[in-house]
Formats: sequence, structure tokens, C-alpha cells
Amino acid sequence: MLRTIQATRYVMPLREGGSMPAIIEADDFGLYVLKFRGAGQGPLALVAELVAGEVGRALGLRVPELCLVEVEVALGRNEPDAEIRDLMKRSIGTNLAMDFLPGSTMFDLAAGDKVDCETASLAVWFDAFVTNIDRTARNPNLLMWGENPWFIDHGAALYFQHQWRDEAYLSNPAARFAAIHTHVLLRWASDLTGADVLARQRLSEDLFRKIMELVPEQWLPIEQREDYVAYLTQRLANTAGFVEEAQRAHADLI
Ligand SMILES: Nc1ncnc2c1ncn2[C@@H]1O[C@H](COP(=O)(O)OP(=O)(O)OP(=O)(O)O)[C@@H](O)[C@H]1O
Ligand SMILES: [Mg+2]
Repeated sequence: MLRTIQATRYVMPLREGGSMPAIIEADDFGLYVLKFRGAGQGPLALVAELVAGEVGRALGLRVPELCLVEVEVALGRNEPDAEIRDLMKRSIGTNLAMDFLPGSTMFDLAAGDKVDCETASLAVWFDAFVTNIDRTARNPNLLMWGENPWFIDHGAALYFQHQWRDEAYLSNPAARFAAIHTHVLLRWASDLTGADVLARQRLSEDLFRKIMELVPEQWLPIEQREDYVAYLTQRLANTAGFVEEAQRAHADLI
């Protein structure tokens, strides 16, 4: 189950984010990062954010708590910026919120940030599994909070969901993932075999089904959930291709 909260105050936009996410306050007085259903990327970006995020959490990676957040007309009423007001209007109803990590900083190779081999290997496996292209040195989407890395921004993951209707071959669940070459943590991912074993213990068809049940109907018709379960289950049964590809990419790098 995900908690459902009510957005009570628009605090500020996170302008660096392409989808205009915002920091909001909710009825529990907590601060959250809100991802709007009405943003240009469309509701499937929220599906990816939720599904990939919960897969990452199940793998043992740190992902800030995700909740559903209700946006009402009143939230945008006093907003002076027309673009933000329109975005809120298009997003009335259920949106995605993520626990805001105060004082966190974006992972920065140049500043000497690093992660341990187990986390890096699991993260590379994860991003290859969910086909997430957004974990590069330039745009790591990895927040350092205290000593620990936190994984955010999975809206571009699961690209099969944008393509499988018309081009079936692109949604091949065993497909390799060439973008893994640019993964910000690849240099430390020296135990992809261990990560693969661990991941196949931690993920399952049952888990994928439970995760898909969390997705609101306003984002994805209920009858499409099983297609996602089938895709993820088949990809989990066919990890050798992307694992070998990531191992080669790691070996090329060091
Ligand atoms: N949970 C969080 N806690 C603190 N800061 C966050 C959190 N989530 C996001 N941010 C900040 O907001 C920025 C934008 O968030 P995010 O990357 O998720 O948005 P996006 O619109 O998908 O971005 P992109 O332009 O990378 O596609 C992040 O780069 C980070 O600085
Ligand atoms: Mg981002």
C-alpha cells in the first residue's frame, strides 16, 4: 500500500527538472517532491516513476518513500505563474509524491563522491533491468544524503511502455541496453554476477503484480497492468543478455 496525502501548499518549483516537479507541503505537514500527471511527459512517466522506484526499493536500493498525492483546484488558485497554474489545473486528481530529502546534494564524481561495489553493481543491474537512461555523470539522479546514495527520477525508465503497441520488436523483454555504457556508477560495478543472483532472489512475478496494483487507474487502465507484469517477468527470466553487456562495459572502462 502507498500512503495517500493531500497537497496543501505549493512551496516552489524545481526548475532544473524537465517535468517541472515542485516541492509541496501536504496535510501531514511534510515536504514532498510532487510529479505532475499533467506534465508534458504524460501520465506514463508517473507509472515508470512508481513501478521502477518500487522495483529499486525491493532490490534493496534506497529510494525515497513514494506516495499518491491529491491535487485540488484550490492549490493553484493563488499561483501567479500561468505555466505552473496550468500544470496544476491539468493535474487535478491523483499525482505522485516523493519524500523530500532536505540538504541532499546531487552525486558528483568530480567532488569525489563514490559508492561501494555492492550498491554500484545492484544499481547498474537495476537501471539495465528497468531500461533507465537517466543515470549519467551529467545527470546522475542520485542524491547523496548524509553518507548514503538515494535513487530518484525514474520517469524515463520502462521505455517499452511507449513503444510496444506499434513496434513489437522494440519491447523485446530480453533486449540489451546499450545506454548502460554511460552509467555513472559503472566503474564500481565489479560484481554484476552477484547482483544478478541477488536480484533474481528479490524480484518475482508476484512482486511485480503487487507493484502494478499500486498504480492508480487515472494513470493506466487496469487491464494493462498484466502486460507490465508479463514484460517484467520475462525480462527477469532473461537477464543474461543485459548482464553480460554491462560486464563488458565495466571491463572496457577499468
Ligand atoms: N526526493 C527529493 N529530495 C530532494 N531533492 C529532490 C528530490 N527529488 C528531486 N529533487 C531535486 O529536484 C530535481 C528534479 O527532480 P527530477 O530529476 O526527479 O525531475 P525531472 O523533471 O524528472 O528531471 P529531469 O530534468 O532529470 O528529467 C533533482 O535534480 C533534485 O535536485
Ligand atoms: Mg532528473
